This record gives sequence, C-alpha cells and structure tokens, in this order.
Amino acid sequence: MTLLEVRNVHLAIGGVELIRDLSFSIDTAQRLGLIGESGSGKSLAALAIMGLLPYRSTVSGSIRLSDQELVGLDERRYSKLRGDRIAMIFQEPMTSLNPLMRIGKQIGEVLRIHEGLSRPASYAQATALLERVGFDQPAQQARAFPHQLSGGQRQRVMIAMAIACNPDIVLADEPTTALDVTVQAQVLDLLAELTSEHGCALMLISHDLAVVANVCDHIQVMYGGAIVESATTSELTHFAEHPYTRALLATSRGLDDLDNESFGQLPTIAGTVPQAGQFPPGCTYRGRCERESYQCQTPPVVTGTTHQVRCWHPYGSSSEGA
Ligand SMILES: Nc1ncnc2c1ncn2[C@@H]1O[C@H](COP(=O)(O)OP(=O)(O)OP(=O)(O)O)[C@@H](O)[C@H]1O
Ligand code: SF4
Ligand SMILES: [Mg+2]
Repeated sequence: MTLLEVRNVHLAIGGVELIRDLSFSIDTAQRLGLIGESGSGKSLAALAIMGLLPYRSTVSGSIRLSDQELVGLDERRYSKLRGDRIAMIFQEPMTSLNPLMRIGKQIGEVLRIHEGLSRPASYAQATALLERVGFDQPAQQARAFPHQLSGGQRQRVMIAMAIACNPDIVLADEPTTALDVTVQAQVLDLLAELTSEHGCALMLISHDLAVVANVCDHIQVMYGGAIVESATTSELTHFAEHPYTRALLATSRGLDDLDNESFGQLPTIAGTVPQAGQFPPGCTYRGRCERESYQCQTPPVVTGTTHQVRCWHPYGSSSEGA
C-alpha cells in the first residue's frame, strides 16, 4: 500500500530551480534508497518531505503522506507529524541533538510531546529505547550529554529518537557517512532491523551505492535535481540502463577491484555536476554522457513502469542497436 507519494515536485530557492519534476512513491514498510553525487538534491528532497526547507524556498507539486497533502501544510500541523509520523536522521547528529540536554531527557521529550507521556514514564521509555539501540548501561548513559558519546553512539541516539513514536517512515540522510566502516555497518544493520521491527518505511540517502544496495529493496538515482533511474535493487545493480547509473556502478566496482588488489586505472565519471541554476537545457547529464545526441537538448521523458529511466538513449533499449 502506498504510504508516501511525491508527484511532480519542483523546488526553487531564491528563484534558482534545484529540484525538477521529482516523482516517486514509498509503500508501507518499504526500504527505498536515494543515491547521487554531492549537490544532486538528495537532502533537499528529504527536507521537502519534512517541511524543513530553507527560507525563500518555493515548492510546487504534491507530497502526500497517506491521505494528507504536505505541500502547503501549515507549520502547526506539520510539527505534529514530525517525530510522530515522519522522522529524520541527519548525517551529523551533533547538529540535531541539543548539546545542553542529557540524552535520556531528549528522547523522553519526543515521547512527552507526541505521546503525552508523563516525565517519569517518558524517561523510563527513553532508557528502554537506549537499551534497544545497543547501549549496555542505559540507565547511566541516559544521563550523558551528547559530547560525552562517540559518533556511533550519537547516531544510535538519533535512531532511538526517530523510532520512539513508531513513525510511518524514517528519512535517513547519510546517517553513517561520518562514521568509520565497522561502526557504519553496525548502525545500518540496526536501522534496518528496527524499522522492519516497527513496520516502518525507510528512505536511506547516500552517495554510496553499495551502502544503499545492502539495505534497500528499491533504489532511485538522482542527478541534477531529478531522478534519472529507479528500479529494484537487483534490477538496478544488474541491468542499469541510464548512462549515469552505469558510470556510478563502474566506479563502485572499480573500488571493489582495488580491494582485490587486481586494479588498473580507477574508473571515474568525467566532468562535474553542473552548479545549481546552471544545468544545461534538455538532459542535465549532457556534457558528461557518452551516448549524448542532438535529441538530448530536449528534456528526456521517463519511460518504463517498474524499472523507470529518464534518458533518450538508455542501454538495453531497442534504440541501442546492441
Ligand atoms: N539553503 C540553500 N540555499 C541555496 N541553495 C541550496 C541550499 N541548500 C542546498 N542548496 C543547493 O541545492 C543543491 C542540492 O543540494 P542538496 O543539499 O540537496 O544536495 P545533496 O545531494 O544532499 O548533496 P550532498 O551529497 O553533498 O549532501 C546544491 O546545488 C546546493 O548548493
Ligand atoms: S538523455 Fe542523452 S545526454 Fe541524457 S543521459 Fe540519456 S543519452 Fe545521455
Ligand atoms: Mg545531502
């Protein structure tokens, strides 16, 4: 059943168009990955869903959570949804945790506001949540301030806060990028385990295809403010059709080769993502694409149903001639 439906969303900040025609949906309890290079618009997409866009943002289109339209929703109603039905985990927990408040109290506050729990009951539940996310001495650790915890522990606190009120969906924006690789894997496992335990959908944002492929059942690739390809994880990693997705796969496989010490030249994607507001007319991947033609000066349309691609000359299509 569809939980979140984003349709034809365009977003501009100060008149600069940063997200173009964003459309996707997430089903109840589904795990969707959103990947793309820095500046492709991943965080803005999540902030648009959370209603946390910067000043001077204008949004058009529709974002529906079950039957509720979120575009244009007033702040009073939005703040009731945040934490309760939609929760977000940010890349750097120090920016979202209150440095002056003990972590047990911070988690408890979410429960007091949204669930109406008393102070002692919310604190007890916060301590139980800390235990669930892997703190070995939760009663003691609940009294810690954020700066007394490691990066991995802080991110566990964020996960505890995110799931505290059993939200319908958690948006996790690069939740492990600041952590070392072993802690990264533990935190991602915990996130996947807890969201499925709570029947909660997950949108995992990352620039790392391998991270997303390990956790998500469906992946969307974003480039230049638009989704260029969307498919199941297996389909996308084995039969990518968009030239940009194929280049991303080649670079991550190149890294695997490095691990196997059988490497030659590490593959790279030539050029850089255009600056916001300086996208070329037509397809935003023009100038970096090996399959570009005159037709690409016109914006490509999305084709496919379960496997969607936004490209005039995708790999595997009949126009490829191979
Ligand atoms: N507050 C803002 N004002 C103006 N432009 C912004 C603002 N926030 C983001 N942008 C621009 O919007 C584009 C998309 O930014 P966004 O943060 O969504 O990228 P991202 O895909 O999350 O990148 P990263 O992987 O680096 O986190 C970028 O070009 C960025 O410079
Ligand atoms: S539309 Fe054209 S430029 Fe864009 S990705 Fe497809 S082939 Fe490349
Ligand atoms: Mg980001």
